[in-house]
Amino acid sequence: MIVTLNNKCNLTRQEFLSYKKQLQQIKTDVTLILCPCSLFLNDIDLDNIKIGAQNVSCTECGSYTGEISATQLKSMNVSYCIVGHSERRKYQQETNREINEKIKNLLKVNIIPILCVGEEKEERQKQIEKQVITKDLEEATQGLSEEEKSKIIIAYEPIWSIGTGIIPQIREIDDVVELMKDKFPNNKILYGGSANEENIETLNQISKIDGYLVGGLSLKPEQLKIFLKKLKK
Ligand code: 13P
Repeated sequence: MIVTLNNKCNLTRQEFLSYKKQLQQIKTDVTLILCPCSLFLNDIDLDNIKIGAQNVSCTECGSYTGEISATQLKSMNVSYCIVGHSERRKYQQETNREINEKIKNLLKVNIIPILCVGEEKEERQKQIEKQVITKDLEEATQGLSEEEKSKIIIAYEPIWSIGTGIIPQIREIDDVVELMKDKFPNNKILYGGSANEENIETLNQISKIDGYLVGGLSLKPEQLKIFLKKLKK
């Protein structure tokens, strides 16, 4: 099982350093991937945790003020990188074409992309979630070989579930995971959206899942420990 911790734009460096000490005490056989604010990537030196980034540039190194390239992430020992998070699609107007570029740049330097896809509430109400997810997956992985595609970790994050405390019904998650496994049989699939230590027993009922992508929970090490203990391995 994989649990990816997406800190989003939270914590000052001082707060991050004390948070890191708490994470250091976690003993688990789950693969933990920590995706902090990029400024703190160099501060991660934990045996029990792999390093992930929250974003990468569409471009290679060059005259692109403010960007961080895949090559630069690699030089910071980053092994994973989130791409296509709904918050970036919404607030930075990130497109599938850009996400596709990012994935290609990451794969070139052997960083595993964690590709997020998920539907809006209205899209689920209109029962078009599968079309939305299929389109995003196809466009984001355009031009990749089957081998390259299989390296990507896919995260199903229904947008209406992120940070709301609402999780979909297990049947709804199962249906989307099945669709993903059908199109991407060799890929690891995560669920993200309000997963926490209280609802993990319910989420444990998902038939086939390889782990979770957590936001709010990532910032609460004590609750995270309980989550990891309850997690069905
Ligand atoms: P929450 O766990 O806070 O709902 O966030 C999920 C998420 O967006 C992880 O990428």
